[in-house]
Amino acid sequence: MTEIVVEARDVVLSFGPTPALRGADLSVGAGEILAIMGPSGSGKSTLLHCLAGILVPDSGEVHFDGRRIDNLGETERSGLRRDRFGFVFQFGQLVPELTAEENVALPLLLNGVRRAKALEQARPWFARLGLDGLEGRRSGELSGGQAQRVALARGLVARPRVLFADEPTGALDTLTSEQVMDLLVDSAREQGTTVVLVTHEPRVAAYADREVIVRDGKAHALTAEAIS
Ligand SMILES: Nc1ncnc2c1ncn2[C@@H]1O[C@H](COP(=O)(O)OP(=O)(O)OP(=O)(O)O)[C@@H](O)[C@H]1O
Ligand SMILES: [Mg+2]
Repeated sequence: MTEIVVEARDVVLSFGPTPALRGADLSVGAGEILAIMGPSGSGKSTLLHCLAGILVPDSGEVHFDGRRIDNLGETERSGLRRDRFGFVFQFGQLVPELTAEENVALPLLLNGVRRAKALEQARPWFARLGLDGLEGRRSGELSGGQAQRVALARGLVARPRVLFADEPTGALDTLTSEQVMDLLVDSAREQGTTVVLVTHEPRVAAYADREVIVRDGKAHALTAEAIS
C-alpha cells in the first residue's frame, strides 16, 4: 500500500450561496501524478486550493503526510505552502520586476536561503528546461512557453513534497503544452515529487498515473459512468 501524501475527506465548501465542493474525497500517493479533470465550474481549482491549504473547507478534512492541515491557522498553513508545496498556475504569474533567474530563486529566498546560494541553485534549471541564455530576461521578454517553464522551475526548485499545478498548459499551444508536460513529469519523477494536476485537456491528463473527474463538487474515479 503506497503512502498517502495528500487527502481530502468529505470536503464541502461554498462561496456564499454557490456550492463549489459537496463532499469531495480524494487521496494522492507518494510520488504519484494525479490529474483532476472535469467541466468548467465543477470545483477542480477549489479542490486544489483546499488540498494546498489555500482555502479552508466549511466541513470535512484535509490531510498532508498523515497530519490534518485544514484546522491549522493561516500562519501555519502559509508556512506549509512555502516549505513543502510548489505551485504552477495557468498564466505563470512570474514577478514582472524580477529576472527569470530571480523568479526561479524566489521560493528559496523566501525560505531564507542567501541570495548567492539561491541563484546558484536556480541556475541548473535553465539548462534542464531548455532555457539557456534566458536567465536575465524579465517575464515580459519571454514567450508563453518559456515563461511557463520558468514557472515550472520556480515550482520545483525548493524540492517540494507536492507540486500543485492548475491548468499549467491552459494558455499554451499543443506542441508547447507537450514540452512543458514532458519536463514537468520528468522533473517530478526525478525528485520523487507528488503532483496534483488540474486540467480539462485529456491529452495533458494522459501524462498522469491516474485521473479523477470532479463533477458537481465531488471527485469520482475515472470510469465510463463518470464521464458519461
Ligand atoms: N472566489 C469565488 N467566489 C465565488 N464563487 C467562486 C469563487 N471561486 C469559485 N467559485 C465558484 O465555485 C464553483 C467552482 O469553481 P472552480 O473555480 O473550483 O471550478 P473549476 O472546475 O476550477 O472551473 P474551470 O475549469 O473553469 O477553472 C463555480 O461555480 C465558481 O463559480
Ligand atoms: Mg479552475
